Amino acid sequence: MAKNAIALEYGATLVNAVGPEHGLTLDEIDRSTPRLAAIVDEIERERAGGKHRYRELPTDREMLREVKSAIDEYEGEYENLVILGIGGSALGNIALQTALNSPYYNLLSKKQRGGPRLFVMDNVDPVQFSAMLEVIGPDLKRTLFNVISKSGETAETASQFLTICDLLQKKLGVRGLRRQMVVTTDPKSGTMRQIVDKAGFAAMSVPDGVGGRFSVLSAVGLFSAGMCGIDIKALLAGAAEMSRRAANPVVRENPAALLALLLHEHYARGKRLHVMMSYSYQLKDLADWYCQLWAESLGKNVDIHGRPQVIGPTPIRAVGTTDQHSQVQLYREGPNDKVFILLAVDRFSDDVKIPKIKGVPQDLEYLQGSSMRRLLNAEREATEFALVSSQRPCLTIRFPEIDAFAVGQFMMLWEATATVAGKLFELNPYDQPAVQLGKEYTFALMGKAGFDAQRTAYQAFVEKRGDYSV
Ligand code: PA5
Repeated sequence: MAKNAIALEYGATLVNAVGPEHGLTLDEIDRSTPRLAAIVDEIERERAGGKHRYRELPTDREMLREVKSAIDEYEGEYENLVILGIGGSALGNIALQTALNSPYYNLLSKKQRGGPRLFVMDNVDPVQFSAMLEVIGPDLKRTLFNVISKSGETAETASQFLTICDLLQKKLGVRGLRRQMVVTTDPKSGTMRQIVDKAGFAAMSVPDGVGGRFSVLSAVGLFSAGMCGIDIKALLAGAAEMSRRAANPVVRENPAALLALLLHEHYARGKRLHVMMSYSYQLKDLADWYCQLWAESLGKNVDIHGRPQVIGPTPIRAVGTTDQHSQVQLYREGPNDKVFILLAVDRFSDDVKIPKIKGVPQDLEYLQGSSMRRLLNAEREATEFALVSSQRPCLTIRFPEIDAFAVGQFMMLWEATATVAGKLFELNPYDQPAVQLGKEYTFALMGKAGFDAQRTAYQAFVEKRGDYSV
């Protein structure tokens, strides 16, 4: 196995740890392995036929060349990089930045940062957006905007894009607009592609067949990461390594297949909430990214045969130790309907020694001369023990250390796991029809032509809902 390989530890989901009512046996796992091996084989054959296209991103030289040449073009020129995008066009960018750069990156000097400050606008909150404009205002000329939208039709991103185009054009003219706007979108179709072709913006592609939440390892996530000094080659190398492991037909050696199996088996036993609890500030936004991937991919009301089914593990994000002081009470004593996924780090890039101070009360002596790394990891181990004592199954994903190679593995692990889980649940993990309805009604409420029926239906709903409030 590669150096710095992340590991999936699953002993605390088994009967020995959490008892027969809540745990799985190794025999049960082994009984499922022929089915799992067939699924892995099926996925590999489908890949050869062009499906599961995200799995090819780590070795897509053309894609990497495009991203690197864009980075070469803009590197060193800009003080700020602003990402305009939402969902799969933003969460990965945020997760990479939190995982692989300083927690206070934007507050560092340019020399310390080595790249532009990064602002990811993944909402249309007017106060947040105005505040961003105020911050970058004095440096507008040195601000690069990267609008990311595969479809080009997402209202949030489109509104941000129009606002920035207008601002750049008014303040810096058409040349400024062209120079400072980079578009990442579908290579051939969609509204954004039409705009790019007409306006002549620099553009990068979201590769064909790669949906938003599976696109972080394309230009979508790599451009901002590379601009901010993250080693995108190592990120892709980590993803390639995990993709290789995810192709292993020996299920006990395949972390993606095993993870999907464990979560699917527990789901069948009523554990339908999946709590990802990161014991590292750096990994906390990876949990957010995972929540979207898991929820949009696996929450469906129809299976692949077109039969109505209500399927959907609910992902939840938590942060250790913070949420030990807010949620663990519920997690230990509330309903036993969850699997916990703890994110553990062996070697942090930094540590803080807890000093020895004379006259400290005896009660605090145990902390003297210890370190925050040791305390954080002891709290994780203690929490795992506490959860398991209440028969709550726990998985641990262990990072030997947090670097681009490990983060690439983690992202590919969950993407590949979503594909296997899609097969186990017999659903299509790549569509999101339920998100569409909200988008259509937003168009209707915003007065878009062609949405009269939705406007009428909305009015009917308002009347039915009535006017009850206190
Ligand atoms: O995973 C998905 O497909 C979605 O979350 C999209 O990423 C999100 O809706 C944004 O879509 P787009 O990139 O087309 O603007």
